[in-house]
This record gives sequence, structure tokens and C-alpha cells, in this order.
Amino acid sequence: MTNNLLTVAYIGASALFILSLGGLSEQQTARKGNIYGIIGMLIAFVATALSLDANSYGLLASVVIPGAAIGAMVASRVAMTSMPELVAILHSFVGMAAVLVGIANYLQQSQSLTQVESTIHQIEIFVGVFIGAVTFTGSVVAFGKLRGIISSKPFLLPGRHLLNLSAIAASVWLGFLFLTRGNSTGLEALLLMCAIASLLGINLVMAIGGADMPVVISMLNSYSGWAAAAAGFMLSNDLLIITGALVGSSGAILSYIMCKAMNRSFLSVILGGFGGQTAPETAFASVRTGGEVAKITAEDTAELLRSAKSVIIVPGYGMAVAQAQYAVSELTKHLRVRGVQVRFGIHPVAGRMPGHMNVLLAEAKVPYDIVLEMDEINEDFPKTDVVLVIGANDTVNPSALENPNSPIAGMPVLEVWKASTVVVMKRSMASGYAGVENPLFYKDNTLMLFGDAKKNLDAIVAKFAQLSEESVDIPQPGKVVWST
Ligand code: TAP
Repeated sequence: MTNNLLTVAYIGASALFILSLGGLSEQQTARKGNIYGIIGMLIAFVATALSLDANSYGLLASVVIPGAAIGAMVASRVAMTSMPELVAILHSFVGMAAVLVGIANYLQQSQSLTQVESTIHQIEIFVGVFIGAVTFTGSVVAFGKLRGIISSKPFLLPGRHLLNLSAIAASVWLGFLFLTRGNSTGLEALLLMCAIASLLGINLVMAIGGADMPVVISMLNSYSGWAAAAAGFMLSNDLLIITGALVGSSGAILSYIMCKAMNRSFLSVILGGFGGQTAPETAFASVRTGGEVAKITAEDTAELLRSAKSVIIVPGYGMAVAQAQYAVSELTKHLRVRGVQVRFGIHPVAGRMPGHMNVLLAEAKVPYDIVLEMDEINEDFPKTDVVLVIGANDTVNPSALENPNSPIAGMPVLEVWKASTVVVMKRSMASGYAGVENPLFYKDNTLMLFGDAKKNLDAIVAKFAQLSEESVDIPQPGKVVWST
């Protein structure tokens, strides 16, 4: 393939990636956005493969075919609830690729570069390996935390900020040696910096508590983009630079949005240490009302919902675990047929990845227009008869607003307790991802519906189906039932 044709293919692929990002910003256009991304990636791959020397095809096939097969198998098997872990481990691959490309580039430098070009190339290699190493180990730790292999509590080394600063200072010094000492100590400096950056990645993510993991994931997403862009500079591949910059900047914007949603300072999250302090028991105890919770059955919940005029459903991670989205959709249909106003309240960090709840509800064909963001619905809770909390916990925890000592203090939450009645569906009194106890369960207007969310929702839906068969005299919207 000629260079001109390759450039045209890369420009086409870049345009498709930009269209893809645009499409992914709205639920209605997300599918189209995905397709643009797939076509863009296909064009990029074919154009790059055709631009290679024919002798390299064997090598290319030997890595691409097993890689594609493993990727397709893992992606098709992964449960929706494990998606963030998959994303975290994929980020680590990008980081590792940047490190390997950097070291390989250093070992096989082109002789045709001028002094200035060579210095620029060395800087590209050094920076690329640094970002790649931080991304690699940080993402592996994030994977461990999301998978539960590593505790989600922050691991705070004494003087960790000083340690991080020392690691950065040492890397800068090694960078200076790398650039000035020529080939004699270059590789040693590069590898030593790689080891220090790897430890820095571990320390940064280990120090971040459970409640702040969403920001870490999007931050690592951003790092992986910059690592790819750095690899693009090393390989002189324009498309990789553009793609890396798109991922890097969109990840940074997402991190900023998440920080705003969680009322966190971006810098503080990066430096670590949030989400770990446990609330003093006294502060929490003052909110409890006798330590007893009021329970409700699925049958009674159905009755309660039946008598309501307005219902808000607040889903959380537990809905994803229970795979209850289809039962939720069924229940929504039953309620709407009976003229009940049903809406959904979605917290920006509900579930385990951005947009987790929206994806599940869209999959179960819940209409988009009744799925509202936290800011759009928070003021409506006082006017609502029943709130059904389905497997949400941290995102509806009043201690975020009421207890300044809570580890999630200041995080905006869905103020469900302001409704007339709240039914919380979960299996036990266990805390959510952030490990913080929830005073909502003890509020006077809260009823706990214990058990698997799907089983309970199925029971509620069954009750509604039975009622539909029995009662022909239930007012239907737009239908006159009684005539005297
Ligand atoms: P969580 O606070 O994690 O609570 C989920 C609740 O679901 C748990 O308390 C659990 O209680 C319940 N549950 C689990 N399986 C269930 C089942 N089969 N049936 C019924 N209930 C079940 O969820 P949330 O409110 O969605 O908050 C999300 C949390 O994850 C936040 O702390 C957030 O910071 C963090 N996080 C979010 C992301 C993103 S980007 N969204 C990424 C990483 C971390 P039981 O065990 O008692 O059933």
C-alpha cells in the first residue's frame, strides 16, 4: 500500500473514531457509535497490515490470530458485572505494550536520525515507558480491587506523598542520565525508571479507597490513551497518536465529570487516600432508630406499588448481580398500564462502570425517556409515593449528606428517604462497595425487602399478573370502566 493511500485510510479511521465517540455520548445513538468504531478499527488494522513488508505477515498472523481468538472468547463470556475488571485488565495491556514498544525501540534505534531527532526520540521513549509502566501496574491493582483479590480499602503507606514525589524526582533524574550518558548507561536508566514507575503505579492505586474506584478506572483509561499516544510517537504512527489522544482526553474529561458527580477533588483522588476512613460508630449510632429494621414481603410490596400514584425505581449494582433488569422492565409495564407514573433515578456511579444501569435498562427495553439522571430527579422524591431501591446502597446513603465523618461525606446521592415510603431490595444488611453502613435502612419510612432482587421482583410481577387476570375493574388509562 502506498504512503498516500495509508494516510487516507488513517484519516478515514480517525474520522470514524471521532464519530464513534460522538455516537457513544447518547443512548439512542450508542449502537451506531459502536459500529463506527468497529469499522474504523477494521480500516486501521487492514491498512496497517497492508503497509507491512510481505515477510512480516507470518509473524503478524502468529500474534494477531491467537490474540483475536482469546479476546473474542473472553469478551463473549464476560458477565456484565465483570466488565469493569475486563476494562481494567485491558488498560494494563496498553500500558505493557507501551513499555515493550519503548524498550524495543531503544534497543533498535534508527541510525539515520539527526542529533535533535534522536534526542526527541529518546524523550518519547522515556516518557512512553514511564506512562506505560504506571498504567500497567496501576491497572493490575485496579483489576485486583474490582475482582476482590485485593481489599478495596485504601492501603496507605506512611509518607506516601513523599514516596510518590521521590519516585517522580528519581525518574526525572534517571531521564537526565538517559539523555546525557549515551548508550553506556541508557538501558540501565530506562529499566530502573521502569521499575520505579511500576512501584509508583501500585502505590497510587493501592491508596485509593473503594468509593473512589470509578474515578480511578476512568483515570487509568486516560493514562492508557496517553500511553498509546506515546507508543504512536515512538513508532511514528499518526493513527496511534490520534487514537491515543482521543482516549486520553476523553478519559480525562470522564474522570473530571465523575469527580464532580462525587464531589471529590480530582487531585486528591489521584494522590489517593479517599474512601477509606470508617465513620466513627458514635456518629452512625446517632442515626439509628433502635437498631431494628422494618421488613416487607414481595406480596405486600406489590400491594403498596398498586396503591401508589408515582413510583421511582433506583437501581444499583445489586440489580446487575441479580440480572433483574428484565423483571424490572416487566414490573414497569404493569405499573404503567395501571396509570402509575414510573420513573428511574440513576446515580452517575451506580453499578461498577459509567452508564452501567443505563445499559442494563436499555437491554431490557425500558423506555429512555423515563430513565433520568440524579440531578433531573432528586427534587421529585418528596412528591413521590413509593421508591423502589433495587440493589443500590452507597448511591442512596443519607450519611453522605448527614454525617460529615462518613467516608463518603459530600458525595451527592439520590435522596430517596424524602419519599413517602422507601422499599429497599437487597439480600442482607451488608454494606455496599464503599464499605459504609447505611442509615437509610433504619429510617421510619423504609421497609426492607430481603432476598435476591430477581426472585423478589418475579414474585411482585407474578402478583401483578394475577391481579390483572382477576380484576377487570381496575381503571386503565384512557378507558372508562364504571358506568352508573
Ligand atoms: P453498592 O453500594 O455497591 O451496593 C450494591 C448492593 O447490592 C449491596 O449492598 C448488596 O447488598 C446488593 N446486592 C448484591 N447482590 C444482590 C442481589 N442478587 N439481589 C439484591 N441485592 C443485591 O451499589 P451502588 O449503590 O450501585 O453503588 C455503586 C458503588 O460502586 C459506589 O460505591 C461506587 O463508587 C462504586 N463503584 C462504581 C463504579 C462505577 S464507574 N459505577 C466503579 C467502581 C466502583 P446484599 O449483599 O445485602 O444483597
